[in-house]
Amino acid sequence: MAETKKASSSIDRTLLVCCGTGCIANGAQAVAAALTKAASAMEKKGSLRVTVSLKGGIKETGCNGFCENGPIVRLMPDDISYYHVKPADAADILNHIAGKGEIVERLLYKNDEGKKVLSQKENPFYAKQHKIALRNAGLIEPGSIKDYVDRGGFDALKKALTMKADTIISEVEKSGLRGRGGAGFPTGQKWRQCASYEETPKYVVCNGDEGDPGAFMDRSILEGDPHSVIEGLLIAARAIGAVEGFMYIRDEYELALKNVRKALESARASKYLGKNILGSGWDFDISVVRGGGAFVCGESSALMASIEGRVGEPRTKYIRSVQKGLWDKPTVLNNVETLVNIPHIILHGAANYKKMGTQASAGTKVFALVGKVKRTGLVEVPMGTTLRQLVFDIGGGIPDKRSFKAVQTGGPSGGCIPASLLDLPIDFDTLDKYGSMMGSGGIIVMDDRTCMVEVARYYTNFLAEESCGKCTPCREGLRRMLEILTDITAGKGRPGDIELLEETGIAMKEASLCGLGKSAANPVLSTTKYFRSEYEAHIKKKTCPAGVCPKLTSFLIVKNKCKACGLCKKSCPVSAISGQKAKPHLINQKLCVNCGSCRIACPFDAIDTKGGDAGKKETKPAAKKPGAKKPVAKKPVAKKTAKKVAAKKPVAKKPAIKKAAKKPTVKKATAKKADKKAPVKKTNKKTPVRGKTTRGRASK
Ligand SMILES: Cc1cc2nc3c(=O)[nH]c(=O)nc-3n(C[C@H](O)[C@H](O)[C@H](O)COP(=O)(O)O)c2cc1C
Ligand code: SF4
Ligand code: SF4
Ligand code: SF4
Ligand code: FES
Repeated sequence: MAETKKASSSIDRTLLVCCGTGCIANGAQAVAAALTKAASAMEKKGSLRVTVSLKGGIKETGCNGFCENGPIVRLMPDDISYYHVKPADAADILNHIAGKGEIVERLLYKNDEGKKVLSQKENPFYAKQHKIALRNAGLIEPGSIKDYVDRGGFDALKKALTMKADTIISEVEKSGLRGRGGAGFPTGQKWRQCASYEETPKYVVCNGDEGDPGAFMDRSILEGDPHSVIEGLLIAARAIGAVEGFMYIRDEYELALKNVRKALESARASKYLGKNILGSGWDFDISVVRGGGAFVCGESSALMASIEGRVGEPRTKYIRSVQKGLWDKPTVLNNVETLVNIPHIILHGAANYKKMGTQASAGTKVFALVGKVKRTGLVEVPMGTTLRQLVFDIGGGIPDKRSFKAVQTGGPSGGCIPASLLDLPIDFDTLDKYGSMMGSGGIIVMDDRTCMVEVARYYTNFLAEESCGKCTPCREGLRRMLEILTDITAGKGRPGDIELLEETGIAMKEASLCGLGKSAANPVLSTTKYFRSEYEAHIKKKTCPAGVCPKLTSFLIVKNKCKACGLCKKSCPVSAISGQKAKPHLINQKLCVNCGSCRIACPFDAIDTKGGDAGKKETKPAAKKPGAKKPVAKKPVAKKTAKKVAAKKPVAKKPAIKKAAKKPTVKKATAKKADKKAPVKKTNKKTPVRGKTTRGRASK
């Protein structure tokens, strides 16, 4: 640790208590309350000075990005960050500020060398980050317009009000900013196209739907820095000549909704929004629309239908929404992160922005780094940063002495990138070229205990549930792929399955109506490409090399590795493990349900896996005992039926089409004056059980 220990009492200080959703879940509000109470008591005694007043000296901020280490408390301007803070730590933190105690070392972050670090700059999680989109999150109170203005907030709007609309658009074009919602469409170009249509009124919309599982980039920005998004939307509106704006935010984002509403109110009260903005004579206002939570409602045309109160379903886009969007009027839709970049670009100039990132992907990107990585959280790095830097430098590598296997980028319809491609730069075009995508910025790291077939099955299942069912390639393709993948992971894979998966995936890419169907095969196609041997092991050898698929895995304790610690025994949900002190433990295979808990619990890597029941049955059919009861009568029947139907129809669609043709359930819109909830289309259709439905087979 660097210099310590006593704080200088002559500086006004601020304590920033992270109160983003992650830290709140870990008790941040109790920490903030304890600090406020203790500070108030100390101030009464005259032993503490913090900023203007005690209340002003303790701020509840948005997310700092390192949520797993929350609650986080940051002392400024000293830039000392405390992690895992509890209410009981309040007195020690304040004693240090009051010059009566030392830095609270137990709450500091330990870097990879075990050294305790004070500032974010010294913390390996933050050291290589470059914050543009997250420039304010964690530093301001989201509800306070004063905090925002003090950090230069609305200066870009003031500047934009003095610029011609065309000049604003040119600046955004020159910056090279591309949409952060997934498609990477050039933002300036989108604005120029919309501005070119004469039809009025025009609209601007902020896409805060963020339906990707595991993603929380947009939520954090909306929670922690809502005024920046509002300012970005105002500048977009000014550039294209829009009269009204909408912020479409998913309903589960309770804190984001609360903070956005508060920010809108304060912006109106301070004349940054509403009638005659800053005396310019320009009127513009923004309403909040709550999204119902369907993944497909993040898609532009579905989102607009949803705002209009119709079922959130994509439409064919012969005419783009920049020409006919909301209520068939010219509309610009931009993602939350795209919009927070706008004030920075206008204020600091396109050339400055373009310095960061790569030639074709300028600026930075926020990622939600999760999965099997030591440091998880929200990170913002320049475009072109490699996957290796993200996973190993910022993320700290793979925990528990496991090895890196793959990284899934781009949300549920992204692809899995193997270790051999870890040095790929992250930008829109490179990831696309290698079968994945940037998407909105989800990065899921996987270790050697991850089954890539199961990963593909998991995402395909999610997408099959979220597909709106409007077009056949996506609706049927996803179901067929899910059936095949479910079979493979259950030991029922057949020769030709991989090829059939690939054929279906390619057809979906080419023929689906919207981005969901067009990209939905990525998890499958990238894993059949980079992890083909794993599929083959499941199908041909009936084993799951990663030891994940229960039907293809048996768990065994390796005698000479077992240290008889008993942890596996404690973790087993069916008491299948026996063993005594100082003696290697044993798994009773008859009781074991192959859940894998013991393998996770064992600190000595003493639990191994090998092919499971399905494999055994396949290779060694049990001898028939005369008179013995048939254990499962259903299976052979189902197989026979499947074979029969498959022989007749190469692609049996009927049963599935019938199901999908069911009318979607539409919840009524509960429109409020300036804050309405969008209707939800219940998209989920039960996945047909294999045996009842059939699928085309390419096997010989
Ligand atoms: C199925 C699907 C879901 C999407 N979800 C989101 C989302 O949650 N947020 C988002 O900004 N864009 C999402 N998009 C992309 C939007 O359609 C659109 O391209 C984007 O909002 C445009 O803003 P941008 O140009 O600033 O990226 C989704 C697209 C598809 C096909
Ligand atoms: S591709 Fe899928 S989500 Fe998109 S319209 Fe077709 S069925 Fe609906
Ligand atoms: S795999 Fe699960 S059920 Fe089997 S022994 Fe281990 S903990 Fe018990
Ligand atoms: S947890 Fe590992 S080392 Fe401990 S008893 Fe079980 S197998 Fe042995
Ligand atoms: S909510 Fe505190 S670090 Fe994310």
